[in-house]
Amino acid sequence: MSNYHIKHLEEYYQVYRKSVREPESFWEEIAEEHFLWRKKWDAVLDWDFSKPEISWFKGAKLNITENCIDRHLTTRGNKTAILFEPNHPDEVAEHISYNELYKRVNKFANVLKEQGIKKGDRVCIYVPMIPELAISVLACARIGAIHSVVFAGFSAAALATRINDSDCKMVITSDGSYRGSKTIDLKGIVDEALESCSCVETVLVAKRIKTEIYMKAGRDQWLAPLLAKASDVCAPEIMDAEDPLFILYTSGSTGMPKGMVHTTAGYMVYTAYTFKNAFQYKENDVYWCTADIGWITGHSYIVYGPLANGATTVMFEGVPSYPDYGRFWDIVQKHKVNQFYTAPTAIRALAKQGTDVIDHYDLSSLKVLGSVGEPINEEAWHWYNENIGKKKSPIIDSWWQTETGGIMISPIPYVTPTKPTYATLPFIGIQPALMDENGNELKGNQVEGRLCIKFPWPSIARTIWGNHQRYKETYFSAFDNKYFTGDGALRDEVGYYRITGRVDDVIIVSGHNLGTAPIEDAINEHPAVAESAIVGFPHDIKGSALYGYITLKDTGETRNHDNLRTEINQLITDRIGPIAKLDKMQFTHGLPKTRSGKIMRRILRKIACNETDSLGDTSTLLNQEVVQDIIDNVL
Ligand code: PRX
Repeated sequence: MSNYHIKHLEEYYQVYRKSVREPESFWEEIAEEHFLWRKKWDAVLDWDFSKPEISWFKGAKLNITENCIDRHLTTRGNKTAILFEPNHPDEVAEHISYNELYKRVNKFANVLKEQGIKKGDRVCIYVPMIPELAISVLACARIGAIHSVVFAGFSAAALATRINDSDCKMVITSDGSYRGSKTIDLKGIVDEALESCSCVETVLVAKRIKTEIYMKAGRDQWLAPLLAKASDVCAPEIMDAEDPLFILYTSGSTGMPKGMVHTTAGYMVYTAYTFKNAFQYKENDVYWCTADIGWITGHSYIVYGPLANGATTVMFEGVPSYPDYGRFWDIVQKHKVNQFYTAPTAIRALAKQGTDVIDHYDLSSLKVLGSVGEPINEEAWHWYNENIGKKKSPIIDSWWQTETGGIMISPIPYVTPTKPTYATLPFIGIQPALMDENGNELKGNQVEGRLCIKFPWPSIARTIWGNHQRYKETYFSAFDNKYFTGDGALRDEVGYYRITGRVDDVIIVSGHNLGTAPIEDAINEHPAVAESAIVGFPHDIKGSALYGYITLKDTGETRNHDNLRTEINQLITDRIGPIAKLDKMQFTHGLPKTRSGKIMRRILRKIACNETDSLGDTSTLLNQEVVQDIIDNVL
């Protein structure tokens, strides 16, 4: 029996048990039967969480683009691989077949080579959601260059930090981008970032908005003429199973963003396997994930997972609100989308518009609805189920992370009975554990604790670029011999998991992970600011929003608080990007601190969430008096 495609619940339990009892033979069979290898592995799995070192399919040789493109050409050459839907509905959608994708990726790969990019070099991709984004990702993989995609909404400073951290030799970008009714000067942002990046030798520029831009002689080159003269055949670089495929940065609770490193074979096998099952993808389906390829969801479930299955994957350039709030449903109708994967923040924003706008569209093609990025609240779940799924399309509330590479806990549609707000059951091969504060595993059902994973799965990130020690400390030190996710979860009476949220200082705003420390650092750069603390508070649409407590320097001057708020949010936009702006800023006379001087964020969080009844004992604070003052002036 092939275990590649799970079709009913009994089969799920049976295959799950096998994947836990005999993980090596289980994954070996999946790998052997469903992928193209240039050489088979010497060992399926080697692991030691104490170091931590994990390798899957060691010694195997392959190229992921042969699996995502070449092997489909004989059977699916004319099938649409990427269906590009532009920002504005009047612009015609582009259907890129597997044959065409093959040519375009090869041409791009040859351009990279001509520009001196070799296996192992890092290439930063700062491109909006246009076909060149997916194609440049695949072109890097074709020649073994390590791509580092930076979401094209990050600021110049955030881009520079990421370019320098992984020493990128090249940046790929575009003249600009469309976002609803706005255009963004992406190349200008790159130019600014590169003032502080000496490692970058070449910038390749795709044309999208066709504005006049500055091109630095000897560094910047237009992509189109280079592609025009490049050959459309490029032999794939034969990669080792554990060669890095990409770096993707994610915010930590402190310090620099972490460059999570994903390697080739395990990532491919797991993203392909989870894509097939989590979306129950069938040969002629049209699948659409609304994420940006700048995030892990886009890497795994717009590019690699779908293409490894020979799927048709939609790439949408725009936003849900442009030209109006019917845009998503317009795309579903137009392309007869079968699987639709989005984030709770988008669902809440759309729900707020009412149902009139939906009634204009035929959504009958939909078979599976997905949610990812943050806990989906009960109200949003029901709205999605009733109005979009018409109660016939199961919602897969899929829990996973940049670090996990693929979906970890999720219903399998038409297999796992769903339950609102529950991510339900572990995916095949995933062994979750809930831990108490003393490091003991909570056995049985109806327990709540910190969510860990106790056995490796093929697509776990292998390290943090340039900082293996930090990888070890962040993920493998809190609990012995387990990967710690940073999330809390509960397991109900039937063994279903519900993710309760982050247990560290990461706040998820509109599905984006934001560490509090880098935002506080940005605020503290303002000359008037003495210190600051950021916490999350519930927000109707964003899930959580940011509340900043800011103490100003005592200079004797009076400052206009509205101006300060604008200046501080501008600083945050410059240092990180507009996604990290604060919704509320309260100017305080001080911040509550422990006797050792640590800011008591727990108290500040409760105040911001209007939970002052349960503040607990504040008498041990160094400066108890500031608490009442903060409560009295809460926004
Ligand atoms: O807190 C969890 C939340 O998002 C975090 C991972 O964020 P990121 O690395 O950006 O990846 C997001 C897309 C995979 C997790 O630690 N999260 C993600 N999915 C869910 C979720 N929280 C609850 N339910 C989910 N379905």
